[in-house]
Amino acid sequence: MYLTREQEKMLNGEYGWAIAKAIELIIRVGEALGADRLIQVKHAHVSGVSYSNIGKYGLEFIVDFYKRGGRARVYTTINPGCIDYSGFSTIIDNKYMSEQKVIDDALIGMGFKPVFTCIPYYYRPPVQGEHLAWGESSAVIYANSIYGALTNREGGPIALAASITGYTYNAGLHLLENRVGRIIVKLDPVVKNTPMGAIGLFIGDVVKKTPVLHGLENIDFSELKILLASMAASGSHALAIIPGITPENTYRVEVEEELTIEKQDLEKYMGESLDLKHKSTSSVLGYLGCPHLHPLELLQIVELIRKYGRVRRGSLLLTLPPEYLDKYSFLINELRARGVDIAAGTCPVVSVFKKKYDYVLTNSGKAAFYLRRIHGLKTIITSLREVIRYICGY
Ligand code: F3S
Repeated sequence: MYLTREQEKMLNGEYGWAIAKAIELIIRVGEALGADRLIQVKHAHVSGVSYSNIGKYGLEFIVDFYKRGGRARVYTTINPGCIDYSGFSTIIDNKYMSEQKVIDDALIGMGFKPVFTCIPYYYRPPVQGEHLAWGESSAVIYANSIYGALTNREGGPIALAASITGYTYNAGLHLLENRVGRIIVKLDPVVKNTPMGAIGLFIGDVVKKTPVLHGLENIDFSELKILLASMAASGSHALAIIPGITPENTYRVEVEEELTIEKQDLEKYMGESLDLKHKSTSSVLGYLGCPHLHPLELLQIVELIRKYGRVRRGSLLLTLPPEYLDKYSFLINELRARGVDIAAGTCPVVSVFKKKYDYVLTNSGKAAFYLRRIHGLKTIITSLREVIRYICGY
């Protein structure tokens, strides 16, 4: 691999241990993927920071880089940890508070922006054609598909290494030749009322090459966010081409196959039946905010809760960036007064529940996918409106 004079010095330790280790890691991965050189990144987003997920060894990895001089050389944001930073959630258990604080202090000490959210594009929307090093699969697919930015689906360590060196390897989705849509996926008109979370899980599971999605002309950004995150959860997708939305000149299309999604394809991805009448309602959790809520989604939820009054069946959990606690405090206080539980800077997938639920009702295919796997919960995917309607007792 070609290295510039500066990169050679980094590798030789002239900039210290942390930069040498970080650039070595990037070069090794890059060589395995056939990269010819390293490229500068504009924004790194570091995932894999929740103590509940990474445990003691992950904590030591991060703290080691901090103590041995690792510092951000580019704008860097951080994914959610396992702590509700509001301290008011009755659903998320802050049992790993002290361990998470050690991780957070190290990340902040390295100069990373403590946003603790999986929607880094809310803080810094990427520019078309710029190179990023993002972890967090839902954010990666959003950056590539909606903004036309160029990022691979990095693990936490590579995103951290890219932050403290300022570079990543020139391979994968950084190259136009690899951004090729090969499978046309069409939505049968009857499918359009099916929750996007279930459609995303189906596409992620069944379509193995980059899809070109047709039939999404009128989809709103919130549904798009859910669709892409769900695809990236059940599959390894990091890019979906959506004609009319994905910026031109950031992809090519070479069609190999066409697939039409029909209603019966989606049944198994919807989860349990929505008929919860005979179940104990206290064990039902409604969950919205995977990926974290955008302010527009928060407003939409406030309007619906006002319409239906308050939470009357089970619990309703929202997850969002900690910054909203101050910025939208008037909305958050109103929601809490209406019985909604709000957790900031975390989510149930990367944290621990305080009590046991039997069913989770959510609009997110990604949340359903991981809550089934990690917490063994039964999940039901439906629309945001239906989650609220059910939890409010209608
Ligand atoms: Fe974000 Fe947690 Fe979902 S990190 S994408 S809310 S699983």
